[in-house]
Amino acid sequence: MAITHDKGIFTLNTKNSTYQMQADSFGCLLHLYYGRRTEGVTSWGLKFMDRGFSGNPTPDRTYSLDVLPQEFPTQGTGDYRTPGLIVRDSEGIYGVVLHYKGFEILEGKYSLKGLPAVHAEDAQTLAITLEDKRIGLTVKLLYGVLPEKDIITRSVIVRNDGSKPVTVMKLASSCLDFTHGKFDLITFQGRHTMERQFQRQSLSHGQFTVGSRRGMSSHQFNPFVILADHDATETAGRCWGMQFVYSGGFLAEAELDQYSQTRLMMGLAQEKFAYPLKPGEELAGPEVIMTFSSEGLGKLSHNYHACIRENVCRDTRPSPIVLNTWEALYFNFDGRKILEVAQSAKGLGVDMLVLDDGWFMNRNDDNRALGDWTADEAKLGCTLGELVRDVNSLGLKFGLWVEPEMISEDSDLFRAHPDWAMTVPHERPVLGRNQLVLDMSRREVREYVYGAIAGILSQGNIEYLKWDYNRSIAAVYSRTSDSQGKVMYDYMLGLYEVLERLHEKYPEVLIEGCAGGGGRFDAGMLYYTPQIWCSDNTDALDRMNIHYGTSFGYPVSTIAAHVSTCPNHQTGRTTPLKTRYTVSMAGGFGYELNPLTLTEEERREIAGQVLQYRTDREIITEGMYYRLSNPFEESYCAWEYVSRNGSKALVNAVIPYNHGNMPLVYVVLRGLSGGTFYRDIGTGKIYPSDALMDAGLPLEMPKGDCEAFTFRLERV
Ligand code: DGJ
Repeated sequence: MAITHDKGIFTLNTKNSTYQMQADSFGCLLHLYYGRRTEGVTSWGLKFMDRGFSGNPTPDRTYSLDVLPQEFPTQGTGDYRTPGLIVRDSEGIYGVVLHYKGFEILEGKYSLKGLPAVHAEDAQTLAITLEDKRIGLTVKLLYGVLPEKDIITRSVIVRNDGSKPVTVMKLASSCLDFTHGKFDLITFQGRHTMERQFQRQSLSHGQFTVGSRRGMSSHQFNPFVILADHDATETAGRCWGMQFVYSGGFLAEAELDQYSQTRLMMGLAQEKFAYPLKPGEELAGPEVIMTFSSEGLGKLSHNYHACIRENVCRDTRPSPIVLNTWEALYFNFDGRKILEVAQSAKGLGVDMLVLDDGWFMNRNDDNRALGDWTADEAKLGCTLGELVRDVNSLGLKFGLWVEPEMISEDSDLFRAHPDWAMTVPHERPVLGRNQLVLDMSRREVREYVYGAIAGILSQGNIEYLKWDYNRSIAAVYSRTSDSQGKVMYDYMLGLYEVLERLHEKYPEVLIEGCAGGGGRFDAGMLYYTPQIWCSDNTDALDRMNIHYGTSFGYPVSTIAAHVSTCPNHQTGRTTPLKTRYTVSMAGGFGYELNPLTLTEEERREIAGQVLQYRTDREIITEGMYYRLSNPFEESYCAWEYVSRNGSKALVNAVIPYNHGNMPLVYVVLRGLSGGTFYRDIGTGKIYPSDALMDAGLPLEMPKGDCEAFTFRLERV
């Protein structure tokens, strides 16, 4: 039994972790423990004493929620740390006092209406009900336990069971309280073209928050955080992760309080959020995927990789190897050029041509036409269907770029429905890339978007969509909503509804997520789009660091990465083709360059890469992924894939900068079978596995900057 309940104590067990909480005699749900798998009851950790200026909900001066670890802290209970729930009642009073009411243990994993969530056969659900009798509020805390994966998910449903309306002002989905410990917080910060840069800092007293107010999970901060023992490394130490299954605004908070206790919390962004609930209505907090590792960050990542790959993504087919036209041609093409590029790409061995932006009416630059999803037949020289057919007849699949949630002011759609754009009345709208965001909270807008995409798909054998999103939301106003405080949340539900409808109707169409690169790289999108364009930055060195950060929470199978031309269009840097390939070996692999301009030598090299990728794809997308160095701290970046049965390993390394008389770099491997030998397929040399995982493999001295090294090993 993964979940048990005994004398008021709830225990959630996974293979390597235990989570415990207790409904105490005051009816409060206290958090007891989340750590290594253990037997017995951990309530001895609770200490009761009179603490000055910490409120007491009863005359017992030794009982204060300001000090005790809680499962779901609320505002107004005398706990002055950050709350998970703030509610304003019909009198305008803030404050919720929740008491334990009951629980249910269910077989299987709960799902959330309208929201993406982990799906699993081998799982149990615990639902704990709390209530505030004064306001008539019921809160259901949901826990999904995937024992074999070491995963515990959390979500919360707030329901107004009273007779008067209330407004939810803040909603977090998960909270972890630690009574002691010296922790680091690991977050993934960035910007457009530099997403998910690894950042680790020790927690000091106060509150540290990351989040997004942009209506998208964002390039700036990823909705994924790790709390780690101060001395935790890749291979040792305790760490806890929280990953939000949501693509809109979020708030992750870490607080070190007056008694050096730590609270970690993840939930909806509070900005522009005030969700009214009429009697009988409810609001679901998006899911948080939690995991615990006592074996360092590498194991924590493995737990997430398996969960995202098998329990979030729903399409597990291998991705086609693509040639994408964006960096190859931008807007400068016609139908003839596309076919020439396709023919040339076919000669390289790729599977699919992806026609990126610029294929529809008036879209010859990025200032207009979004919303008018009619192919520009004059530019293409034929219908879209004919172009797809011609590409198919070259032996290539066809994929197409769309940006369905957007509308340009210069578009027929805007001229017909200016009110469908999210703008504030009588105010000049804030533009982003000269475009506005469609109000996905409106049914008629969702119908239009669904109809437009279905209409495109009906024109030919289109097997892949790249679903882009190129600005953040600024104006939060919906002309039809009864409350502007719910628009951001309803927008996401609207987007998910359209994606779900498309998934049901066209299960064979692969959708790649994209938001100006990796601006919506989150588990919410991965539920609908099993791979995401990781960044608009295709420079090998920058990408290497972006992939490094991304790998903490997301499996390589979800990362789309393309080899592009040099000098690189984002950085102007020239890197060897081999290095670009080495860095791009990921789940959504391909090329984003003009094959017509390649030299014969480059064509041969690329054709070889494509063949090699087909051989390596399984180990890359399904193997165990190991980070072998931290490129932010070390002079090289190395990473490794080991097949599930340990019989093969693929090791990649890049030395970004060459220096005079460099020290040798030794790459120390991990995850090999112990007590045996591995052969380097390239050189035939045989190495003892334990020494490879201890002394490591030396890299040759680089002959220039940005040199890449690859080793393919097999167990003998
Ligand atoms: C942003 C994407 O990230 C790019 O790859 C490309 O599709 C452009 N949009 C097209 O406008």
